[in-house]
Amino acid sequence: MKAYSEMTPAEVEAEFRKIRAEYDAIKAKKLQIDMSRGKPGSDQLCLSDGMNFVFDDGNYLCENGMDARNYGMPDGIPECRRLFADLLGVRPEDVILGGNSSLQLMYDFIAQCLYSGCGFTPWAKQGKVRFLCPCPGYDRHFAMLEYFGIEMVNIDMLLTGPDMDQVEKAVQDPMVKGMFVVPKYSNPLGITFSDETVRRIANLSPAADDFRIIWDNAYLVHDLTDTPDVLLNIFDVLPNRNRDMVVEVASTSKISYPGAGVSCIASSPANLQHIRERLSKQIISYDKVNMLRHTRYFKDVAGIREQMKKHAAILKPKFDAVLEGLERDLGGLGVASWTKPNGGYFISLDVLACIATRVGVFCAEAGLKLTPVGATFPYRLDPHDRNIRIAPTYPTPEVLKQAVEILTVSVRLACLEALCPGGVK
Ligand SMILES: Cc1ncc(COP(=O)(O)O)c(C=O)c1O
Repeated sequence: MKAYSEMTPAEVEAEFRKIRAEYDAIKAKKLQIDMSRGKPGSDQLCLSDGMNFVFDDGNYLCENGMDARNYGMPDGIPECRRLFADLLGVRPEDVILGGNSSLQLMYDFIAQCLYSGCGFTPWAKQGKVRFLCPCPGYDRHFAMLEYFGIEMVNIDMLLTGPDMDQVEKAVQDPMVKGMFVVPKYSNPLGITFSDETVRRIANLSPAADDFRIIWDNAYLVHDLTDTPDVLLNIFDVLPNRNRDMVVEVASTSKISYPGAGVSCIASSPANLQHIRERLSKQIISYDKVNMLRHTRYFKDVAGIREQMKKHAAILKPKFDAVLEGLERDLGGLGVASWTKPNGGYFISLDVLACIATRVGVFCAEAGLKLTPVGATFPYRLDPHDRNIRIAPTYPTPEVLKQAVEILTVSVRLACLEALCPGGVK
């Protein structure tokens, strides 16, 4: 297709008329499609239903002989800690298990740092604290920081991870206390941090000795292809002086059930001790029957990897449908670029500057609900009004085809509108 920038004014006007007619025809179908959140489809949830039968024999005893239904084992049951430790590449004693949500573990950790500290003066007593936010990023990280009144500092995301020149400079500010990152198949770009980025993060020299990195490894085994990205284990390259700097979280939300999975937090012995002290006031123990259910069902990392292949078989055609649609309808027009992830839950679409909001409006009016434009940036402010997060996992492939059609026609229409500010007859 000819790039819009190479078209004559007459050609642009003709294209505008054609695309506007296509858009009106799609709008007339009165579709209602929700592509706003990265959640698994019900066929994916069914993959884990076997979990619900592991107690048919009435045996709730853990490998240490303790009853999973009762109080006790505040760090989580040993076999499940071992499973998560193997997944993360750390020792079981470096892991505490949580409830069904890693987001909750992150929230509780930040709240602890703010109001009680984690072996340091509580951040809230130190003045206005800041967090580095590589973006585009995960909207719920940003919403959490905003909720706590922590100032967010934008850091550009590159295809290798956060722009480390910016990060190394920003951590010279002693009020910069932390950074949220999604190191593998990041939300929404779907990229994995390069080894060099991981090493540079591990070797940071922040001015604040209470600087903490939330290493949100939500997509650690969520590969879509036979040539998955490989993430360097940050704990393997963390110098001793930074041993308390990294706090990793993960969960089985997109391995088993998002509504009923198991989460974990892994960090240094000192950090875990402070977390344990707080937990001892907060909860007697998380849901250990669920931990046992997961461990009996998946057994080990190999069991989880088998499960992830089944997820990939469902998800890959959906990602392919979106990527093919984008290439077919937008390729060569010079108005958009997008990521082609090897895993995770998202594709990130960048359109011409200043038109993403307009694309969102066109999509909404034609019945396609997207993640709100801007949500991938702190304070919901995309400085270039360019980024759109595509979440292809939930709709069926047929619905997804319609969704991509609405999206690409909306992108073209918004661009043409910008190119023909006076409109066309
Ligand atoms: C990067 C990232 N972290 C965390 C979560 C939520 O995880 P959980 O279900 O364990 O709270 C998501 C869900 O979309 C995510 O994309």
